[in-house]
Amino acid sequence: MKKVGVAILGLGVVGGGTYQILTNKREFFQRTQNVDITVECVLECNRERALALGVPEEKIMTNIAEVVCNPDVSIVIEVIGGVDAAREYVLAALNVGKTVVTSNKELFCKYSHELERVAKLHNAGLYFEASCVGGVPIIRTLLDGLQANEITSMMGIINGTTNYILTKMSEEGMSYEDALAEAQKLGYAEADPTADVEGFDAAYKLSILASLAFHTKVPFSKVFREGIAGITQEMITDAQKLGYCLKLLAIGKRTDAGIEVRVHPTLVRKEHPLASVNDSFNAVYITGDSVGEVMLYGRGAGALPTGSAIVSDIIYAATHSENRYSTFKNTAEADGDVKFPSDFMSAYCLRIRVPDKTGVLSKITALFAKNDISLVEVLQSAKEGDTAGITLITHETRELAVRNAVEKINALEFAQVQSVLRVVS
Ligand code: HSE
Repeated sequence: MKKVGVAILGLGVVGGGTYQILTNKREFFQRTQNVDITVECVLECNRERALALGVPEEKIMTNIAEVVCNPDVSIVIEVIGGVDAAREYVLAALNVGKTVVTSNKELFCKYSHELERVAKLHNAGLYFEASCVGGVPIIRTLLDGLQANEITSMMGIINGTTNYILTKMSEEGMSYEDALAEAQKLGYAEADPTADVEGFDAAYKLSILASLAFHTKVPFSKVFREGIAGITQEMITDAQKLGYCLKLLAIGKRTDAGIEVRVHPTLVRKEHPLASVNDSFNAVYITGDSVGEVMLYGRGAGALPTGSAIVSDIIYAATHSENRYSTFKNTAEADGDVKFPSDFMSAYCLRIRVPDKTGVLSKITALFAKNDISLVEVLQSAKEGDTAGITLITHETRELAVRNAVEKINALEFAQVQSVLRVVS
């Protein structure tokens, strides 16, 4: 039976889950995969934490050099997070020919071109299933299961923290602040929640997933990003009245104009499969030219779900003699021929506050007509003093036409556009 030694860098939530799976299921992997995987050492400054997990004293290292020099380690698992130290450690491992498995989406998104070059130079593997959507095997699905397809679009709920917050706001009427505080209490959101709530986490993942789906480098800088920090209870209530729910969607599309990649709060029709993805769950809905529609659903974070993704990479690396790398030309920047249009097509939902007077609505709808924007639905919501809220849903139209209409409406002085949300029907 093949013997494979691994080292785990960092025993936080994900590192701890990975250690648990590897040690508890060693015999299962021997039996089902014909491979004996042993944890040879861990890199962890917090000795107590490592000891509490059952790591023998002599296997706890505090210096990366001790790990990469260990001849019994052939696979290094990077689960420390952050970018600078993680990059240094991963490069140190790759430079001595050790295969790396990482869950680090920011590192992989920003530096995979560099890491992959070094990995290839030293005939080392570089695997990253756990970097996107936790336990949901989306990377393997794109690399293996959907190879027959040209993927035309992917839409996903790929950040559990924001999905939890939006679910609490929608189902329990919580304010954004209260829902965020609860997400922090449960350990979903960090003390500084910026990466999740401002959409960075989802944008890193989308950059990686879109590069794989569309077989071309989609750098992070090309991802249009808006977070959920400005979402109010009123926006959600209006959406519900119109038959929608509000989700932070990551959208990747290949169109004749180029590749669209965007992360933003989106109204999703209640009948859409993504509308029922609630709490901290994630899902990705993919359309391929042969397969049609496919949806993957599951836990995007957590010790054992993310550990599951990491261990699947370890098993792949341990049972394949050839390394597998990205299926696109992995350069720092996008290929010069590929366009990333900012004037994409979408339907929109606009909330506008206006005086509750005759003729106001017709002035506003005239501005939409002038910008070639056709309306599907109009809802008048509760009065506030002398003003009323109007919520409008448009047909599919150009992003820039909507931005232009918003500017013109705000210039009317009496009207104020309070929110603009994109819509998926
Ligand atoms: N913070 C992420 C989320 C999990 O809330 O989905 C790790 O990517």
